[in-house]
Amino acid sequence: MIELKDIAYVRSGVADLEAAVRFATEIVGLQRVASDEPGVVHLRADARHHCLALVEGRSGVISSGFTVADEDALALAESDLERRGFVVGRLDALAARSRRVRSGIAFDDPFGNRLELVCQQQAITRPVGFTRPAGITEFGHLCLDAPDVHEAYRFWNSHFNARVSDWIGDAACLMRIDPVHHKLAVFRGDGPGLCHINFQVASIDDVFRNWHFLVEHGVEIEMGPGRHPQSTAIFVYFLGPEGFTYEYSFGVRRIEDDASWVPRTFDPAEPGSVDMWLGPIARTTSQPQLHDHEVVPA
Ligand SMILES: [Fe+2]
Repeated sequence: MIELKDIAYVRSGVADLEAAVRFATEIVGLQRVASDEPGVVHLRADARHHCLALVEGRSGVISSGFTVADEDALALAESDLERRGFVVGRLDALAARSRRVRSGIAFDDPFGNRLELVCQQQAITRPVGFTRPAGITEFGHLCLDAPDVHEAYRFWNSHFNARVSDWIGDAACLMRIDPVHHKLAVFRGDGPGLCHINFQVASIDDVFRNWHFLVEHGVEIEMGPGRHPQSTAIFVYFLGPEGFTYEYSFGVRRIEDDASWVPRTFDPAEPGSVDMWLGPIARTTSQPQLHDHEVVPA
């Protein structure tokens, strides 16, 4: 059993780096972290050095990172995954530096989503210098695509400490690795990809202020404002450059009594199963997974 401590980051490839950075800073509100690494821009939302790295090149998601406790946990995870038949690569010094982690490994899930397990992700103590006051409090969750969410759950639950919090039929599996209702989700999609990344905001007012801001700036709203019955979070999803979907949300449920929580199943065809406020439902845009990997086995 590999214990995931937290989500760490998403790396995304972009053909137009400056346009993607402009959106991430001026629209989403993230802080651009100063860096001397050519072609890579790190974006910060909380104590993590960054939670999003935009990498100039082909458009598509590169990898999603999760933290494990320490070097020993990472080595155990590496041997465990190899024993189970996964092809695992080690991050070299440059790859680790670019991720601001001490070390890490990379491998594909059974659907082709590129995952990275890392340890000692750098933290920054200075307050985040948000580009605009969106009210972001933290990198909340990340959501991957897979053709079969039940198979995806088998993967996450048999190898990792991920537990299902709720199902949306065959359409989504919402999973927790700590008391937050979901820090990880898998949505049904044709192939591997990044469904969206989420930023928690401080209040319902931030969700609605942000919604108005996005509309005023001509940003495509994909869904919301609405409220998810599973997590009780009030959300708005919107589309960034190169098919990258962002979400702001407020008020995610915490499951403090883990043992007594019984996962529920919601029928996606039932009105209110995705948005309790009965707004229009849309499958948000996913960014496809890239397969020319940055980290390959030695
Ligand atoms: Fe979400």
